[in-house]
Amino acid sequence: MKKSLLTRRTFIKKTSARLAGAALATAGTGSLYGDIVKKTNTLAILGGSPVRTRPFLSTWPIFDESEEKALLKALRSRNWCCLKGNVVYDFEKAFADAMGAPYCALSNGGTTALSASLHVLGVGPGDEVITTPHTFIATINVICNAHALPVFVDVDPDTGSMNADLIEDAITEHTKVILPVHLAGYPADIEKIMSIANKYKIPVVEDACQSVFAEVNNKKVGTFGTTGCISFQEWKSLVCGEGGAILGGDEDLMHRCAAFVNNGRDPKKTKSGFPYPGSNHRMTEFQAAILTEQFKRFKKQDKIRQKNGKYIEEKLKEIPGLKPRKLYCEETRITYVRFELDYDREYFHNVSASKFAEAVQAEGVPISGEERRYTRGCHKEGMLEEHLNSHAFGAAFSKARLKKYRESLHLPVMDNIRPSGKEMLSIEGKTAFLGAKKDMDDIIEAITKVAKNTDKLT
Ligand SMILES: Cc1ncc(COP(=O)(O)O)c(C=O)c1O
Repeated sequence: MKKSLLTRRTFIKKTSARLAGAALATAGTGSLYGDIVKKTNTLAILGGSPVRTRPFLSTWPIFDESEEKALLKALRSRNWCCLKGNVVYDFEKAFADAMGAPYCALSNGGTTALSASLHVLGVGPGDEVITTPHTFIATINVICNAHALPVFVDVDPDTGSMNADLIEDAITEHTKVILPVHLAGYPADIEKIMSIANKYKIPVVEDACQSVFAEVNNKKVGTFGTTGCISFQEWKSLVCGEGGAILGGDEDLMHRCAAFVNNGRDPKKTKSGFPYPGSNHRMTEFQAAILTEQFKRFKKQDKIRQKNGKYIEEKLKEIPGLKPRKLYCEETRITYVRFELDYDREYFHNVSASKFAEAVQAEGVPISGEERRYTRGCHKEGMLEEHLNSHAFGAAFSKARLKKYRESLHLPVMDNIRPSGKEMLSIEGKTAFLGAKKDMDDIIEAITKVAKNTDKLT
C-alpha cells in the first residue's frame, strides 16, 4: 500500500494549523488514520453509532479473596492496633524497600504524614512554607494548622505544577520548608527544586500523595526531599481506604516522625514513657492488611498501565493538535493514573477541549476536557482568610505582615489559567488503562474519529 502523503511531519509543514482539522476530515489517509478513517462514520454525539458500547472498567478499588483473607486474619488475630500486631510495621519495611527510601513510617493518612513532616522540621507560628496553589487543599491545611503561612508560587502554565523558577524570589528569612506537589502521577520539577533548596539549605517535604512509583532519573518521587509523603486513600492508586506514609533518609527525623504519629512513643523502645511530642495518627492492622495485598496488586496494575499508557501515548501524539504533557526531565516515569494531553483548539476548528471530550465520551470512551484539575487555586479558598483572622495567626504575625501577605495572593498564571488557552484532555488511566489492547485501540479510535470530524461540532 502506498504510504500516505499525510504523515505528521509533512502535514504540519504543509498545512496551516487552522486548516488541519478540515484536511483530516477529508484526506483521512495518514499512517495512523489509514484504517480508522474507513470506519469513520457520523459522530455518536450527532446520532451516529458509537465506537464502543461496552463500558470501560470503572470499579475501584479492586479486590478479591486475598484482601478478604488478610482482613479476616487481622480480625481473628485480635491484634487490631499496630501496637500489638506486626502487619503495619512489616509493611513499613517492605514499602521503604520498594520506594528506595531508607526509612518509612506509616500513618492514618497523607494529610497526617504531611503534618508529621512539618512538625519534625519545626514549622510553627511565624514561619513560611513555600508551596503551590494547584493542589488538593490538604497540602495547605497542614501548613495553616501549624500556624505558618503558605507562600504560594505561581504555576507553570504548561503543566500546572509549581514554577521552580519563581521559588528563589519567594524565599525570606522566615522560610522553613519548600513543599512541592507531584500531581496525578506527574513529577514536579523536583531536580531544580532540590538544587534551589540545597543552595539555601531549606528542607523539602514532597507531597507525592498522588504519585506512587512516579520517577525522575530512576529515582522515585517522595525520596528526593528531606521527607516525602504518600496517600493510600481510596481514590489513589495504592489504597487501603485511608492511610499514609512518610519516607525519608534522616534517621533522627524519621524516628521523630514515627514517634509523632504514635503519641510520642519512642519507636526503638529504648526510652520509656512519651519522650517526644506527638498525637495518635496510627494506621490500624486492618488497613495495613488490605494495603499489603493491594501492594501486590498495585505492582501488577502499574506494569499494565505503563504498557497501555505508552502505547496510547505513541498513537495519540501522531494527531496534530494533541501533545503529551510537558515533562521536566527526559528520564521521567509518569504513572498514567491520569494521562494528560495538551489540546490546541486551532487544529480542531476552534472546538473547545470540553466539547471535544463530550464527543469522545459519546463514542463510549471516558475522557475529560479541561484546563487543569484544580482550576480554583487553594489561595482562593475561604479557609485561608479564616486562619489569617484567627487568634493564633494574630499572635504569630504582625498586622503589617498579614496585610502584605494578603496583597501577595495574586498569581497571574493560576488566576488566569482558563484564558491562557492551555487546554487539555485527560483520561483516568487508573482504571481505563488496566484494560486489554482492544480497549486501548477503542480509546485511540474514538479520539481519532472525533479529531477528524470537529468541523461538524461547530
Ligand atoms: C495532593 C494531595 N495531598 C495530600 C492529600 C491528603 O491525603 P489523605 O487523603 O490520605 O489524607 C491528598 C489526597 O487527596 C492529595 O491529593
